[in-house]
Amino acid sequence: MNAKLSFSCFLAIALFTIADLSLSAADSVPRERLLLDFGWKFHLGNDWGIAQNLGKAGTGSGPASKSFSDAGWRTVNLPHDWAIEMPFDQRADGLHGFRAVGRGFPQNSVGWYRRAFNLPKEDAGKRLWLEFDGVSRDCTIFVNGWFVGHHEGGYNGFRYDITDVANAGGNNIVAVKVDATQFEGWFYEGAGIYRHTWLVKTAPLAIAPDGIFVSSRFKNNTLKGSAEIHVRTRLLNSHANRAEATVKCEIVAPDGKIVGNICNVYQPVKVPSMSEQELEQITHVSHPILWSPESPKLYKLVTTVNSDGKIVDRQETEFGIRTVAFDKDKGFLLNGKPYLLKGTCNHQDAAGVGAALPDHLQYFRIAKLKEVGLNAYRTAHNPPTPELLDACDRLGMLVMDESRLLGSDTENLRKWEGHIRRDRNHPSVAIWSLANEEFSVETTPAGGRVAKTMQNMVKQLDPTRPVTYNAPIGNVFDGINGVIEVRGWSYRIGTNRMDVYHAAHPDQPNVGSEQGSTVSTRGIYENDKVRGYVSAYDVNAPPWANTAEEWWSFFAPRPWLSGGFIWTGFDYRGEPTPYGWPCINSHFGILDTCGFRKDDSWYYQAWWTDQPVLHLLPHWNWPGKEGLEIDVRAFSNCEEVELFLNGQSLGKQAMKKNSELKWLVKYAPGTLSAKGYNGGKIVAEAKVETTGEPASVQLTPDSSTINADGENVSVFTVAVTDAQGLVVPVASNLVQFALDGHGRILGVGNGDPSCHEPDVFVPQPPTRYVAANDGWHWKKVPSANDSKLAELKVDFDDSAWADADVKSETGPLGEGDQAVFRVKIQVSAQDLAAQVVELCFGAIDEDGLVYVNGRKVGESHDWQVSSVFDVKSALHPGENTISVAVSNWNGAGGLNKGVTLEFQGKPVAPQWQRSVFNGLAQIIVQSTKGPGEIKLTAHADGLSPATVSVQSKPCTPRPAVP
Ligand code: GAL
Repeated sequence: MNAKLSFSCFLAIALFTIADLSLSAADSVPRERLLLDFGWKFHLGNDWGIAQNLGKAGTGSGPASKSFSDAGWRTVNLPHDWAIEMPFDQRADGLHGFRAVGRGFPQNSVGWYRRAFNLPKEDAGKRLWLEFDGVSRDCTIFVNGWFVGHHEGGYNGFRYDITDVANAGGNNIVAVKVDATQFEGWFYEGAGIYRHTWLVKTAPLAIAPDGIFVSSRFKNNTLKGSAEIHVRTRLLNSHANRAEATVKCEIVAPDGKIVGNICNVYQPVKVPSMSEQELEQITHVSHPILWSPESPKLYKLVTTVNSDGKIVDRQETEFGIRTVAFDKDKGFLLNGKPYLLKGTCNHQDAAGVGAALPDHLQYFRIAKLKEVGLNAYRTAHNPPTPELLDACDRLGMLVMDESRLLGSDTENLRKWEGHIRRDRNHPSVAIWSLANEEFSVETTPAGGRVAKTMQNMVKQLDPTRPVTYNAPIGNVFDGINGVIEVRGWSYRIGTNRMDVYHAAHPDQPNVGSEQGSTVSTRGIYENDKVRGYVSAYDVNAPPWANTAEEWWSFFAPRPWLSGGFIWTGFDYRGEPTPYGWPCINSHFGILDTCGFRKDDSWYYQAWWTDQPVLHLLPHWNWPGKEGLEIDVRAFSNCEEVELFLNGQSLGKQAMKKNSELKWLVKYAPGTLSAKGYNGGKIVAEAKVETTGEPASVQLTPDSSTINADGENVSVFTVAVTDAQGLVVPVASNLVQFALDGHGRILGVGNGDPSCHEPDVFVPQPPTRYVAANDGWHWKKVPSANDSKLAELKVDFDDSAWADADVKSETGPLGEGDQAVFRVKIQVSAQDLAAQVVELCFGAIDEDGLVYVNGRKVGESHDWQVSSVFDVKSALHPGENTISVAVSNWNGAGGLNKGVTLEFQGKPVAPQWQRSVFNGLAQIIVQSTKGPGEIKLTAHADGLSPATVSVQSKPCTPRPAVP
């Protein structure tokens, strides 16, 4: 169904003058992409089964039903990860960070989300989509009681067309059941709707989802003259009839000028009814500004679709003009030149927020990696959050974009296709990775065939990027290595593996796709098995792995290996190698979970950047060790380094390339300092000083102004300092926080891999449950569906009716019976002062209409689940009448399993706190939508407190569902 139409842009520019396709008409475009993150209701617990009626359509039960009350549920904003709200538990899965979720914790492993939204009546006739960027892990989605989809897998985005079941001109309810019982990876994965969610509206004829692909090429691969810009546009026609469209593409340069322009105006695309059609157009950009990590300049493609004389769609796509390739001898090439990959592999969680990162944290983390001098990022071992790629595009970071799993089954290929289509416009994405370490199949013929199928799919959807696979084997060419375009190396350094392999397969390029796995704990200089800390000298690595110096000194003289990706940039939750409990996060990072630097990060900075670097370790607070020898090291790229203790030289040493320097120094408190020399001249200096006792808390925000959009955050460093303002490198004080003004605290962390303090403090409402099981009467009626029944009225005399036991498992009604159940309950004015009052039925068997004081409060249509009704406004102090009109169709029926009234008070504001770890902690503060001052105060016993404000400034928030 692909119609490939190629046009020379020069011809098109000359012919294209039609005014009604101009950008000025953009306002009338039906496409809207609205953020659906704010104001969700959340409930933890699997209380309603699958909630899908497999027998009848549109009758989701429990929370999936439109009339269900979620008034008692907690309000949350997305992204949200409930796994970090769970306690640590030694019985839980250590690879996933010992949080009490997963198979052993069914009560904590299923959550429900609900969100009500209105659609204007103008939306009738539009296509409406719900888009989820990522949910961990399995989820079932309902709209207005209709099942709309089930998705498995925590890392791929997905979308559902909800046009048919949506209510344009009225209220709608989306309900999402998330099941995080099953893990996918062997690392922390989070639980819940942990990425953004969107409501997308388009015209019936529109650009298909992820329907644009823009790529750049150069004639003969020579980066001179003009770049050829290839644009593929896929149109989706949901009309009942064939539609015709013209597609206009404009290229806007980084300076805002239009520099390329094409339109298929003389040959409209014909899109059959209920189908997709793709066209390819080509234009040129002369003297393009090339994208690179050092100069991340972005172009913009503006695609406008016109049909029947109207603009029906318009979309902007950021992209970069650049080329990527691998050379068998020179390694990776960026824009035609050898370019050393100085990369890190990373999982997606961060301190304080788990897997649910606000966008700013993606930028914060990429900026931290860039400070170390890094230029590449591997999304181990899954498709990333889209905003991570935005951060890499804008800040300049090449990406190895990895699939979660190897597989050519329909489901995996569907995910792989969606992943490629979603990410292929990002200039940062430079390499696709098919998979990671598929130990059991990688050398088999089947493994090779499956890899080939996945690789072929890349070549079809994105012919511009190379493909690799992270192979944890040495000189082995069987299976995947035999078919993969670029051989990836997961550890296995050594001449007998790498050099021998390269000699045997000289035409296959190579990349160090995963290296290092050096383990270290920030600020710790001795292994401590009991507390779970590893020394931060570059000395510890598990048996399969290497120290930084071991692997990098092997790679450095071998440019054909293209550089490599350190395991990992940041510590992450789970995989507490080399220990287990009480350790709950990994030690592999060159930065900790907060992004505070560990010493090894300076080893890489020294050998991966050009500016002089000089870093000394350890800290110089060793009371009790006076006169004893301390192992002192310098990470530096200077030719020579001279060390001094309290001003006295301890000698100058020449630095060996890609290595480090060591001294044994008899400890005396004071200042340990160093000078770095190049050509005999001092080019760098460093010092570590013995500090005094902790004296004060310091707060330093990474941004002092943030947007008042309810999304933006400021990341505060919390430091405990001595009277001179030096961070005390052994401090562990507990710091308490208070926040005033237009913000909220999102989370706290400290990078301690064994800290079991909470990352988040969830406000708990005081809740009281009162049984309402006594005094029920029942009587058969001809029709329970009649809202005018006298038996439903408040003053009806039911004293002669039969007693009903509403706690029983089955009810008194026979097949086909209809009846009214009634009870009188007393509530006081004090009861009704609660924020939420709900009436909860264990089960209504089968259909039930519920009335309070004669007013209908809701319906229930599933005898297997409990139903909950918001009754606060229907109750009054004194005596109240509850009547339930029940229709029973099969077996015995009635009101069963108990009736309860729930009174929920105002949530109690929690006390946020966190200990510093080796002097440092982190607190993440988010704006609310009101602009103004956000004042954060930090107190610790015996220390002077700190108060720092950030300004939340007015802004135009991105379009969101109200
Ligand atoms: C690798 C694996 C990573 C991580 C690492 C720890 O083999 O790909 O996910 O487990 O080992 O060293």
